Order: sequence, then structure tokens, then C-alpha cells
Amino acid sequence: MSSSTTDDKEAAGPRHPATRVLMLGCGSMGGALLEQWQHIDDFEFTVVSPSGLRHFPDSVQQARSPKDLSGQQFDIIVIGVKPQMIAEVLPGYINFLAPQGLYLSLAAGFSCTSLVALTGNPCVARVMPNLPVVLGKGVSGLYASEGLEQQHRVFIDRLMAATGYTLWVPSEDALDRVTAVAGSGPGYAFEFARAWAEAAEGLGFSRSQSRVLVLKTLQGAMEMALHSDSTLDGLRDRVTSKNGTTHAGLRALNKDEQLDNLLIATLQSAYSRSVELR
Ligand SMILES: NC(=O)c1ccc[n+]([C@@H]2O[C@H](COP(=O)([O-])OP(=O)(O)OC[C@H]3O[C@@H](n4cnc5c(N)ncnc54)[C@H](OP(=O)(O)O)[C@@H]3O)[C@@H](O)[C@H]2O)c1
Repeated sequence: MSSSTTDDKEAAGPRHPATRVLMLGCGSMGGALLEQWQHIDDFEFTVVSPSGLRHFPDSVQQARSPKDLSGQQFDIIVIGVKPQMIAEVLPGYINFLAPQGLYLSLAAGFSCTSLVALTGNPCVARVMPNLPVVLGKGVSGLYASEGLEQQHRVFIDRLMAATGYTLWVPSEDALDRVTAVAGSGPGYAFEFARAWAEAAEGLGFSRSQSRVLVLKTLQGAMEMALHSDSTLDGLRDRVTSKNGTTHAGLRALNKDEQLDNLLIATLQSAYSRSVELR
């Protein structure tokens, strides 16, 4: 076990001050991100939770309203309230953002242009995460307004890298497309797994056996795909012998390209809804 002395620390040079993050709203999505964020070195988190009902890690400061933050300044304000509350709630917190500070919004369908207009600050970015961020296995689209500086991107990359895979996109329209593919994706995956598990029950397995058979099969297959250089068609063909059982199952699954068309319609519907919410 090693121990460090004051001399060791001084020799290592002065520590940078921690990056202070205010999470304005920390419910389902904010809380999922915080699960991973709380472990990042050199970041300090304060959450605003008006109800005071939620439990947050001990390292996290809590506030219920702007009154509790008096005299404080934050480097980043994460906007984690519902989109329809932003215009009402955010103006009360603008004075707590430090000069050169950044707004990072989680809100679906609330544009950077609207955020810049509301705050008068050009340093605005949006992140569109999905819920597996809670395990560090999320997929998030990131978009930066033109006013964002390199140092802000570094902060965002450090935060979001802790939560899984990230993809910077060049437009808010592309962010809506990421939402259709990945933001809503866990919902499609759960629904597909549910239908598959119900079909397994139809073959005589119990509900719990069906759930495990399906989820473990999905997990194994997806991990194999992620670790493989093969195309997805190639992987499929590797497990499909001509006239075998998988061949028979796949013929039913994508008869007349119904599965292909269903997924095209699924993503188009989700994307259209994102566009409506802008
Ligand atoms: N959930 C998802 O899968 C998902 C995915 C992508 C993006 N998002 C975005 O994430 C944002 C939050 O969604 P969510 O699902 O996390 O919602 P949520 O669970 O309802 O959380 C909303 C949070 O807002 C807080 N809040 C309410 N009124 C407030 C006020 N006046 N001042 C400060 N905080 C206030 C609530 O605090 P209390 O707990 O104290 O009531 C709660 O923590 C939304 O903009 C949504 O579009 C969510």
C-alpha cells in the first residue's frame, strides 16, 4: 500500500480546481448520468431537487431552489428538467453560471437556438443519451452550438466518455436522427425481447426461463458482434445452415422483408415525432 506526503503532493504540482457542475433537475436521466459522473476525478456536483425526495450520493451537494445556491458559481449547468419546464425554471439559475461557463442540455426537442435566446449565452451544447448510461453502456449523440470552445468540448467528452459510447453530430437534425436510432433504442430492444420471450413461453418454457433464455442469447450475440470484424449479414450467415432451424426461423422473421420494412417505419416514426417536438 502506498501513502503520499504533503511533500509528494507539492512535487506533483498544484492541483487544478475541480470543475463545478450544477444539475438543474436530476430525475430519471440526470440520476442515471450521475451514477457514472460521480466517479470522475476533479468534478464536483450539486443537484437541484425541489421535492428533496430523491437520494443522491454523499459526495453530491443538494439544493432545493436558487436561494440555497447564493454566492456560488458553476462551470457547467446541466439542464435536466422536462423540456416544457425549461423556460420557466432556467432563468432563475442564469446568475449561477461562471463567466465562460457552459449549458449542457439533456432535454429532447429544445433547440440550442432557443437555449441561447433564453440565456443570452452562446456556450450551449445538447446531449441525447439513452438510459443504459446508468451502467456506463449508454449511447449518446452530442451537438455543440457555434459558440462552444475547445475547453467546453473537453469537459463534455470527459463527462460523456464515462457513460458509454458518444457521437458528435454536425446538426440538431442529426441529433433527432440519433434519438430515433439510439435514444429510443432501448424501448425497441425491450419490446423485441418481450415478444421473443412470450413466444418462448408458447414453446413451453416458464416466464422466468423464457426471460433468461432470451436476454442471455441477446447479450451473447451482441457481445460477439461487438467484438467481431464481420458484417452483421456475415455473422447471421455464420449461424445459419441451409435448410437448418435458424434458416427456417429467419424465413418466417423477415418474410417478404416485413422486418426490414417494420424497422424503417419504426425509425421514421420516432424521427418524425422528434421533428414535431422541436
Ligand atoms: N428519461 C429518458 O430516458 C430521457 C432520455 C433522453 C433525454 N431525456 C431528457 O432528460 C430530461 C429529464 O427527463 P427525466 O426523464 O429525467 O425527467 P424526471 O425523472 O421527471 O426528472 C425531472 C427532474 O426535474 C426536477 N425539477 C422539477 N421541477 C423543478 C424545478 N422547478 N427546479 C429544478 N428542478 C426541477 C425534478 O426534481 P424532483 O425530483 O425534486 O421533483 C426531477 O429531478 C428531459 O428534458 C428529457 O427530455 C430523458
